[in-house]
Amino acid sequence: MNTQTSDQLPVTSSGAVALEPVIIVIFGITGDLAQRKLLPALYHLLKDGLLHEDTVILGITRRSVTAEELLEQVELCVNEVDKVCDPAGIHKVQKALRMHQMSLIDGAEYDELLTMLNAIESAQGICMNRLYYLSIPPQMFEPIVKNLGQHGLSKSCQHGNAATRLLVEKPFGYDLASAQTLIDETGEWFREDQLFRIDHYVAKETVQNILAFRLFNPLFASIWNREHIASIEITAYEEISIEGRAVFYEGIGALRDFVQSHLLQLLTVVTMELPDGDGSKAVHAAKQTLLQAIKPLQADEIKTRTIRGQYDTYRTEVDNPRTNTETYASMTVEVDNERWQGVPMTIRTGKAMARKQTDIRIVFTEAGDTDSARNELVFNIQPDEGISLHLNAKKPGFADELQSVVMDFNYSRSFDGSNATGQPSHPDAYERVLVDAARGDHTLFTTSQEVMAAWRIVENVLIQWSKSDDGLIIYPKESESVK
Ligand code: BG6
Repeated sequence: MNTQTSDQLPVTSSGAVALEPVIIVIFGITGDLAQRKLLPALYHLLKDGLLHEDTVILGITRRSVTAEELLEQVELCVNEVDKVCDPAGIHKVQKALRMHQMSLIDGAEYDELLTMLNAIESAQGICMNRLYYLSIPPQMFEPIVKNLGQHGLSKSCQHGNAATRLLVEKPFGYDLASAQTLIDETGEWFREDQLFRIDHYVAKETVQNILAFRLFNPLFASIWNREHIASIEITAYEEISIEGRAVFYEGIGALRDFVQSHLLQLLTVVTMELPDGDGSKAVHAAKQTLLQAIKPLQADEIKTRTIRGQYDTYRTEVDNPRTNTETYASMTVEVDNERWQGVPMTIRTGKAMARKQTDIRIVFTEAGDTDSARNELVFNIQPDEGISLHLNAKKPGFADELQSVVMDFNYSRSFDGSNATGQPSHPDAYERVLVDAARGDHTLFTTSQEVMAAWRIVENVLIQWSKSDDGLIIYPKESESVK
């Protein structure tokens, strides 16, 4: 029996936020991610006092943009309950945000950056944690990391006792070999405990709840295995297309963008053994063991167990009439261990689908008769966050007829703090990412072994798909599914 109590939840660290002063250096502050996610998250955290009041946000840009100009073009308050800005919150962002124009490849400019960070700390009279957030295209990781290292920026502040951390967005690497190179090169300058590899899906509230659900509802523990579960399906469909991100997406595709990271992480949270102990290490050990047990698909299996698709206007959008980059990817894998052997696990994602929908469907084994529908447990990750259990019930009346019914738990209805629009007011994934990195909690970040294990799982598919357009399905935008 698992005896963990709710304050020992390994997936959501202790809850108390240590407010240490921090300088958050954002490389790529004018980019899409920084504007849509990071700045609104920072606004919300500063407003609610979840970051130290002396926090400095240093936006790095190659262009000449002032803090005022940047803030004018950003919708800061999208994470607010009513999307209305609080003037005091805005003031805190204005106070914290500074911009610094520099070339990302010219080493000498990193000396200037270091001088600037030292000057900020001297002016505040304190030693501050430093967080470098790489919100930039993956091909820029290596030169930036190298420059940070070579110019003394991976060390802690001039007076010693503060942490310096590097936050990187996925995909970490392009394939197995490049990921290993990147890990080695980053390792030359930053220790593993300084590295925070982000997978923002793991930081979503509903994903964190999966492990809590497994830990604290012993009802399901004894049936969480191949004897009782027939299949698992994880779906992450997006309504949006590539939204003009042709340079990023071309040559990356859905397998690298979503499957290697988000979907394999979700699968891990659902199927790993419950962590043997508290804290980040136990969670990562369980994840690592699970990922290693997933069998990479072999050439003949790739034909039958994967689907790749491209939405019909993609080639025009990226201005490349022959591109085979997939915007839809699905693969069915097996976890080769005692608990899961023989249970098909399908993970799929697609852009330009009929609707945004991320869910995890646990399909239980058949009852043995033909009348009843299968029991299903569904974790709705987004947009209608909650958990539902599909059961069979007898229809009222004299006929012995069954009907499938649903027991529903919905975040916005069940928890206080839901707002008038029905959206729950829990922290956005990026708020969680920033707070955890600021306080040095690794639980929700991906380790280098997990990164490598995930690349190993998708590598054969990447290779096979890159050879030809065999089997590429061109699907109309707003498709419900791709088959
Ligand atoms: C990112 C992908 O990691 O996640 C994007 O690179 C995708 O392609 C995004 O659109 C989706 O995130 P969310 O949180 O909106 O589901």
